[in-house]
Amino acid sequence: MFGQWVRRKLGKNAENSILPLDLTAPEMIEDFASLATTELAQMSVCPLTNGGQLMLDPQDLKAAFSQKNYSNQPSRFSALAPHNSSKYVAAQVAANIPPFLDAPRHTVVRKWLSKAIFANLTDFRSKIPQAAQLYVSDLPRDEPLLLVETVARGFAIQTICDFVGVELEQADLKRYTAAMFKLFAPIHDAEEFARTNHALAASREALRAQLVQASDQKTSLFSTMNQFADLLEGLSLTEDEKQLMFCDNALLVLADGVENVEAAIGEVLLKWAEAPENERTEITESFVRDAIHSATPGQTIARIATNDMHLAGVKCPAGSPVFLSLASANARSTDAIDFSFGLGRHRCIGEGLAISVILACCQEIAKHTKRIDTSNLRFEPVFGHRWMRDTTIELANAQGSKESVKQ
Ligand code: HEM
Repeated sequence: MFGQWVRRKLGKNAENSILPLDLTAPEMIEDFASLATTELAQMSVCPLTNGGQLMLDPQDLKAAFSQKNYSNQPSRFSALAPHNSSKYVAAQVAANIPPFLDAPRHTVVRKWLSKAIFANLTDFRSKIPQAAQLYVSDLPRDEPLLLVETVARGFAIQTICDFVGVELEQADLKRYTAAMFKLFAPIHDAEEFARTNHALAASREALRAQLVQASDQKTSLFSTMNQFADLLEGLSLTEDEKQLMFCDNALLVLADGVENVEAAIGEVLLKWAEAPENERTEITESFVRDAIHSATPGQTIARIATNDMHLAGVKCPAGSPVFLSLASANARSTDAIDFSFGLGRHRCIGEGLAISVILACCQEIAKHTKRIDTSNLRFEPVFGHRWMRDTTIELANAQGSKESVKQ
């Protein structure tokens, strides 16, 4: 069935050109890896329905991560461009967080944020396995639970809120993190963009209130952000701008720590449950990394062409978006490179934390898994991401037998 869908989607028109791909189509998200090694395997770039080009070739991606002719700063045509800061909160947030910055501002903000994250990391990571054990021991037994939306999400939120040093209602947090991820997709819908701006403004308000209370905490990201604030001196921020810099980067960390992490927990457990029970291996760090490699949660990241260029014969004018397909590069790459966390100057800062959270949570859940049911599995239609939904898991009670069957 998928093959038919792909053929429809990739059917050729009169000029023999490939139709644009829709990266929000659930079927596309579900099977992008096999698509990348089959129908798209000969292509280096492919046009997208949302506009821009998708770069597919691992060698091209590797080069793009280090070349100066790809920028992270939104183009001047984008609503997120710095000159729109007086109009949109979204543009102010983009101007504060590393994924939308180029040097020299990127270098300053990334250095400060990395220091603040790494200052607590070793100590924090050592406590994650015990937190996972307590969390899983409190989960209901012998009833179907949503694997990602309930089980994985609860642990991801608890852990990352603890790391940042904030307490937020789950519904509020999800509204804020969803708004953050909207910035990474093409913006076409004015009403949705208005909602995104509204949610980002609300996140700033909620986080700022907690930032003030966090000043005496020793072990949160909020407190280490403050501790290393002198690294931001070159930006000449007012006190108010500095607080917003803290809040926007805290929201980035919360968003990364919830959305991609919960999705990865789901993917790891599905991969583990795929094998017959007597052949199931222990969940190790390399098992987690393999699962993330083959079902990359962050499938696509955006860059902007800084000058007019041609990619495999396709014209990319200066200012146009080029999306790097991490999922395709992972599926096609013949060397050992993992593209899942990016490469080069924007490489993920939270990879170590993410792996620790996913590993501890999956190891603990696997010990108690009775049944995983994928009959209603679907994928959230989010541009550039692979976020599974509607898969259930049943945990055995302490005395119960572990059937561990995948249906
Ligand atoms: C499975 C989970 C995660 C995945 C798959 C993931 C993946 C990525 C990717 C692909 C990038 C973009 C690289 C680029 O643009 O070149 C990125 C950037 C980033 N990630 Fe992660 N990430 C994850 C978890 C986390 C966590 C938990 C944190 C926070 C502690 C985090 C913090 C960041 C930051 C701050 C950046 C921006 C770096 C920059 O632009 O300089 N990530 N991540």
